[in-house]
Amino acid sequence: MGKAILVAGGGGFIGGALVSSLLQQGHEVRAVDRKPLSEWYQVHSQAENVVADLQLLDRCREAVDGVDEVYNLACDMGGMGFIENNKALCMLSVLINTHLLEACRLTGSGQRFFYASSACVYAADKQLVADLAPLRECDAYPAMPEDGYGWEKLFSERMCRHFREDFGIETRIARYHNVYGPRGTWTGGREKAPSAICRKVAEASLSGVHEIEVWGDGEQTRSFTYIDDCVRGSQMIMASDILDPINLGSSEMVTINQLIDIVSDIAGITVTRRYDLSAPKGVRGRNSDNTMILDRLDWEPSTRLRDGLEETYRWVHRQVASGRPATIAAAA
Ligand code: NAD
Ligand code: GDD
Repeated sequence: MGKAILVAGGGGFIGGALVSSLLQQGHEVRAVDRKPLSEWYQVHSQAENVVADLQLLDRCREAVDGVDEVYNLACDMGGMGFIENNKALCMLSVLINTHLLEACRLTGSGQRFFYASSACVYAADKQLVADLAPLRECDAYPAMPEDGYGWEKLFSERMCRHFREDFGIETRIARYHNVYGPRGTWTGGREKAPSAICRKVAEASLSGVHEIEVWGDGEQTRSFTYIDDCVRGSQMIMASDILDPINLGSSEMVTINQLIDIVSDIAGITVTRRYDLSAPKGVRGRNSDNTMILDRLDWEPSTRLRDGLEETYRWVHRQVASGRPATIAAAA
């Protein structure tokens, strides 16, 4: 039977894709986001779509009212360009998770609760080299997460744990590793490397000026997780009995230069790279160790980067070519 489910942050990238998937499975979905509906990345008419600021406890009480499950994907965040320059805004998202949990406790609704954490909780001293060992769940402690955003995520993970231990709310936590795909943020300052590189290469291709700016020296490493894997894995983790935070990420690690090679190959052009060494760079290397998810779910994100980027580049290219503003374009 279908459940009643709240998707907090339903107007965002992952939230919009999750709402779509839950509706397809016959669930009743309430999507809540702070942005006006015209700025939501996907608006699903079969869902109950609510515009509300979930930093406020009263709005959280209304949002969780009568639901069986809560997915908290609401957060003031972005790629390195945003989180390095907006640490206080990132940390204020602590109010969203805290008030959502508190609303569940006070109302008795939403007794199964998913929190979208991040690889940014991992200790900085374990990510100093490009050719690093993949990050295991235990590498979050001793704590030295990404300043601002990472501290908020780590604190909210603990809040989930204690609401489970003390108040019986069945919390589940996934640590997402850089999620990308069509209908994601691709311009405006919050975009992450995959969509930013797709946009820059698309602009180069359309303008005929085959030169792009790259943040850092391009030799930093990451793994990138395709949106379909993220949506599927989030639901598997929610349905599981995995109580501790768990990686949800691809283990296909590349350098940013390799990412650019793949995207420019898809575009069918060669690009000259202008490296900006003073731009936001984040950690030197990051990859997901998937031992735990394979062990517990017998599954891991498996979309090949090349395949995911084909879809993403095609979509971003359409947005750039159409010249439409980001928010309208994202819904198309
Ligand atoms: P997103 O920015 O597209 O979506 C987040 C949504 O939350 C936005 O639509 C925003 O308007 C909404 N929001 C912010 N403050 C709010 C508030 N006070 N009340 C209601 N809504 C509010 O981001 P996303 O990529 O979809 O990320 C979803 C979640 O996954 C976030 O918690 C993020 O930190 C986490 N995460 C994402 C990635 C990634 O690579 N995309 C990686 C790690 C973790
Ligand atoms: N955003 C962006 N734009 N990054 C670029 C660009 C560009 O044009 N060119 C090169 N990069 C480099 C960045 O300097 C960084 O070293 C790397 O690409 C990855 O940058 P992002 O994708 O912005 O972020 P991240 O991987 O460091 O962190 C992201 O993933 C985390 C989870 O793994 C962020 O989105 C975090 O918010 C998220 O939690």
